[in-house]
Amino acid sequence: MKKIVVLGSINVDTILNIARLPLPGETMAMHDRSIAGGGKGSNQAIAAVRAGAETSFISKIGKDHAADFMIDVFKHDGLNIDHVTMDDEAGTGKAYILLDDNGQNSILVYGGANQTITVEDVKNASDAIVDADCLITEFETPLDATIEAFRIAKKNNVLTILNPAPAKTNIPEELLNLTDIITPNETEAEAITGIKYTDKSSLIKITNKLHEFGVKHVIITLGGKGSFYYVNDESGFVEAYKVSTVDTTGAGDTFIGYLAAKLDSNLGNVEEAMKYASKASSITVQTKGAQNSIPYAKNIKI
Ligand code: RIB
Repeated sequence: MKKIVVLGSINVDTILNIARLPLPGETMAMHDRSIAGGGKGSNQAIAAVRAGAETSFISKIGKDHAADFMIDVFKHDGLNIDHVTMDDEAGTGKAYILLDDNGQNSILVYGGANQTITVEDVKNASDAIVDADCLITEFETPLDATIEAFRIAKKNNVLTILNPAPAKTNIPEELLNLTDIITPNETEAEAITGIKYTDKSSLIKITNKLHEFGVKHVIITLGGKGSFYYVNDESGFVEAYKVSTVDTTGAGDTFIGYLAAKLDSNLGNVEEAMKYASKASSITVQTKGAQNSIPYAKNIKI
């Protein structure tokens, strides 16, 4: 069984269903509100475990009810949370998701305990990293801890996947050099490279720039359009599955978790793994909320 470690965030998401974004100074009634498990890190970890991988999670929670809620979800899914520790002061991370009638979301994040993850926490989890086939991380937790995790992984020949979300400029060169596969969406790709996605040739330009920065392999996700790869010196495009979208929250995270769970260590099956991941995220977008929408492997039929 594939062994995956995710270093990343935990958020409790409050989803606010509204007709449209409010104007400055406007007071508006919402249609509905609901709570769901979220956070890019925990969404990716849940996706990997539901895809069938043995998955360990490195993260931090607060000492509060939100933490109890999330721990119940993790235990229910069989996620290894030996390295999810508690901060006595900061609250568990929260996200407030404004979801409009067109399925478009805007997200406000309170980092809380996610921002207290330290290099020491990562060192304490090094046994899990060393033992894994693959390490995934994103940008909702501190950068120094991320770099330490990638150092440990690369010293031990563990495949590293960097999901550079939320979008960030000036990513440290060391981190990019330690990255085997980077998986930006079009906005994140532009933030890193300064190159806007317009067409196929722009994808190649973005890829070349990422190679210049030291990243080995590139997968760019383009939402409902599909995803592009440049892996092992070969490029290709995987079309997205056409479905009716209710809420895209967690779709990118589902893609990453499923991709990592399916990908062979020599990356030889990248196109097959991307189709599988794309099918999984096409299921996620059909239901409101992040973690509650992430499918189980038994529901993925290609
Ligand atoms: O990627 C989706 C996630 O981003 C949400 O679950 C929310 O918590 C934010 O972190």
